[in-house]
Amino acid sequence: MTTLRSVAIGCGHYLPERVVENAEFEKSLDTSDEWIRTRSGIERRHFAAPGELTSDLALKAAEMALENAGIAAADLDAIVLATATPDQTFPSTATKLQHALGMKGGFAFDIQAVCAGFIYALSTANAMVLSGQAKRVLVVGAETFSRIMDWSDRSTCVLFGDGAGAVILEAQHGAGSSADRGILATDLQSDGAYNDLLYVDGGVSSTQTTGVLRMQGQEVFKHAVSKLVVTGETVIQAAGVNVDDIDWVVPHQANLRIIARTAKKMGVSMDKIVQTVQDHGNTSAASIPLALSVAVGRGQIRRGDLLLMEAIGGGLAWGAAVIRW
Ligand code: UT7
Repeated sequence: MTTLRSVAIGCGHYLPERVVENAEFEKSLDTSDEWIRTRSGIERRHFAAPGELTSDLALKAAEMALENAGIAAADLDAIVLATATPDQTFPSTATKLQHALGMKGGFAFDIQAVCAGFIYALSTANAMVLSGQAKRVLVVGAETFSRIMDWSDRSTCVLFGDGAGAVILEAQHGAGSSADRGILATDLQSDGAYNDLLYVDGGVSSTQTTGVLRMQGQEVFKHAVSKLVVTGETVIQAAGVNVDDIDWVVPHQANLRIIARTAKKMGVSMDKIVQTVQDHGNTSAASIPLALSVAVGRGQIRRGDLLLMEAIGGGLAWGAAVIRW
């Protein structure tokens, strides 16, 4: 008996050219490089150029992932793209990416779970692979959060950045044990009672404007640590492994203090945590695939390593995945 698994066969990422150091914010806001570093761990972030869209970032990340996997866009059955900053309200950014890649078949759609978007997209793609609906799925997280910032709000605008990351999943047969490569378990959670902790103050149906991001940072911080620990432990158990078996944690890169506190509560050493928040800021749905691809490029994550990914964001929506790379 074999078990179908969604195995990652390639990954890629893209960061826009413009790098904005913390010190740049000192010119226009009552803030400092020191405050931003010590409170969030962020040192710099990338911002998309005028006219550079979420789909443009997604395309570059997807092209790198296809090259890394050694396959062509025509070999894909589906695209699942997580974003809270789509090019337009509709059509989906995923279908724009599908066209830009020259894909003539298959299907593409967006997922909206803000900073947890990549985990939701990965879990959805996994379900489609396991049900036989698709054999090869491109899973993308792409964001241009610089477009929804209130540049006068120092408590939010210094935290976010733009970027994209992509992973290609392929249906392969495993033995059904935790030694298999591929996604071993996912856990998704949300609670709309917390809508007002992190949201944009506009929307198509409400104001007919895009709106800007609003966040009660301290409240989100508290929920983040406790909920990430629970979803992390849940998914580790569902995967049939132990926390000590995890080679790398690839957390959502929002705040180094959240990452460190969650790791401590779970009993994971900081040497096992992939850290990119210092260079990327919070790129929402892009942050996990970006961190993953950077860590593969650095030679940290290797084939066969056991990874825990976990994220939380607006909704609140959160979740985790365990995957053997
Ligand atoms: O990706 C989705 C999930 N999002 C997150 O995970 C974000 C979660 N929250 C956080 O990361 C943190 O709460 C922040 C980084 C947003 C803020 O850190 P904090 O330690 O919770 O600071 P705080 O909000 O309690 O603010 C402390 C002080 C305040 O001043 P007073 O009231 O103590 O006088 C703020 O007004 O820092 C002030 N402050 C700033 N000072 C300098 C807020 N923003 C800034 C700033 N520069 N940029």
